[in-house]
Amino acid sequence: MFRIDHNLSAGDLDKALRTDVAEGLTSRPKSLPPKWFYDERGSALFEEITRLPEYYLARAERAVLEVRADEIARAADADTLVELGSGSGAKTRLLIDAMGRHGKLERFVPVDVSGDFLAASARRLADDLPHLDVHAVVGDFEQHLGLLPIGEEGGRRMIALLGSTLGNQEPGPRAGLLRAVRAALRPGDSFLLGADLVKDPERLVAAYDDAQGVTASFNRNVLSVLNHRLGADFDPGGFDHVALWDPEREWIEMRLRSRAGRRVHVRELDLEVDFAEGEEMRTEVSAKFRREGLAAELADAGFAPEHWWTDPDGDFSLGLSRAV
Ligand code: AVJ
Repeated sequence: MFRIDHNLSAGDLDKALRTDVAEGLTSRPKSLPPKWFYDERGSALFEEITRLPEYYLARAERAVLEVRADEIARAADADTLVELGSGSGAKTRLLIDAMGRHGKLERFVPVDVSGDFLAASARRLADDLPHLDVHAVVGDFEQHLGLLPIGEEGGRRMIALLGSTLGNQEPGPRAGLLRAVRAALRPGDSFLLGADLVKDPERLVAAYDDAQGVTASFNRNVLSVLNHRLGADFDPGGFDHVALWDPEREWIEMRLRSRAGRRVHVRELDLEVDFAEGEEMRTEVSAKFRREGLAAELADAGFAPEHWWTDPDGDFSLGLSRAV
């Protein structure tokens, strides 16, 4: 069974994009929120990133899931799985199959802003698993967690936020998101969080600045998104990809550095923006975590951390917490 709800219309998304871009391009330093990377090309480039030798995150998370999925299913004992920012949903399948084996799973609710991608992968899953109620939601989980179709039934739910997606938020908004996840759950429900861990900065930087330049193309693609959707005239090739480790805040920052001084027009916003030669615009933060820090953030949001697993190299963590 397959349904798709739209908590976000094309018009809402457009309005959000306009607000974000107008704000980001007129602040100092300039910045753009990472959620606008993921048009069709951006989503395909991200899939390519997950296969890069340097980008250990996806493989490490999959390795944990492969070993622990049944344990997770048992601990969660859930009839509903909600996945926030589900993307292509490849690793979700491990979780769904394990929850199926456990015998309680009835409903899967994938949530993503990227509607086309979501619809295609959720429909494929529903075709594959005819007994599963697949209820996809096109929405922004930073805003719409209260609208999830998981309110009425009495059973147990698990919300999954995988892929270190949480790392894209700075600490303030991150606390807000964790509290919103908690508010969408009832006591006894579970929260499965995939988080990348602090490690050797050289490996971290390499994961965000790969030798083949796929991440550079992914980063520059956000400029093409603005060109297509807002009639901007960015020359993506005129910007260099920058990835650096911030040791105080323990996050990777991606930036785009203008190779020359230039003026950019954003037709749909009636906006002209000047870039100085060498000026850097922030396009993403990707925070890296430590076990104690995450436990404290989860406790602050009303969760009791119960399980903590990593891959054999200790690169990536999967944590299961209980809503209290
Ligand atoms: C999908 C947000 C988790 O931060 O590692 C990959 C996105 N950016 N390479 C990450 C990303 C650059 C990715 N997340």
